Amino acid sequence: MEVAKTIVSVRGLVKAARSKGKRIGFVPTMGALHIGHIFLIETAVKKSDFVVVSIFVNPAQFGPGEDFEKYPRPLEADLEICRKAGVDVVFAPACRQMYPSENLTWVNVEKLTEQLCGRFRPGHFRGVTTVCAKLFNIVAPDIAFFGQKDAQQAIVIKRMVVDLNVPLEIVVCPTVRSPDGLAVSSRNKYLTVEQKKDAAFVYKSLQKCREMVDVGITDSRTIITEMRKILSRALSIEIEYISIVDAETLQELDRIGRRVLVAVAVRIGSTRLIDNILVDLSKQ
Ligand code: PAJ
Repeated sequence: MEVAKTIVSVRGLVKAARSKGKRIGFVPTMGALHIGHIFLIETAVKKSDFVVVSIFVNPAQFGPGEDFEKYPRPLEADLEICRKAGVDVVFAPACRQMYPSENLTWVNVEKLTEQLCGRFRPGHFRGVTTVCAKLFNIVAPDIAFFGQKDAQQAIVIKRMVVDLNVPLEIVVCPTVRSPDGLAVSSRNKYLTVEQKKDAAFVYKSLQKCREMVDVGITDSRTIITEMRKILSRALSIEIEYISIVDAETLQELDRIGRRVLVAVAVRIGSTRLIDNILVDLSKQ
């Protein structure tokens, strides 16, 4: 496995692989790799011939007062995980590689970024789409892998790729959870043992939604009220939002129907956690 620190070196490695007819798979990450990332990487290894993983904590997607400084950066452990998983190249640039001077060009996906997390993290998705556009231009992959865990991010990136005619297939992989249902996240490291127990209520609330839909309850307000009750059992949880939206447009829905995203964001202490499920009544 090669570790590329510069744009020139990663481009060279990808060019050599492509000249051998290899299909390039790409997994963008911010590091602190866990089983959720590993699942994406393993899928990339299966579906492509040459896998590039990027590890870059992107300052442009963190707001003032968010956790950019304290975000975990265990690079050596991450490289070991990538090596074991069969990655060909890790692209781990320093900030000045990605942003050598003040960034004046931004990619912004409208509307889809105004809902859900976009309402609570102004500028976040602009940072994500801009860095992903840069990474896609640097790595030039054929196929890129994202997690359903960050559902809105995956939807926004898919739209960016379509709108900007990026010749790239986006694959969205299911959310990996720990045995208690908690969606695995680099930010779970911030939680105490007690807070982790509370965090498991996020998935419990989503399961409650699924159970209600299974017995024919589809009214969003009724479902959200019950989900709130479940979350209120965890004393440290502060709800940011519980939303039932169309899985393509992200517009709020009064009733669950075809391809619906049920998304939750909470705060536990200073840690922000998100989770979601997809519900599709046409597949019941
Ligand atoms: P990061 O949070 O490191 O996540 C990298 C990828 O792993 C994302 O596509 C995310 O959805 C996926 N992922 C994280 N936890 C997961 C889980 N439990 N199950 C399945 N997939 C999971 O998302 C980012 O980084 C950044 O915004 C990035 C796209 C790299 C741009 O900076």
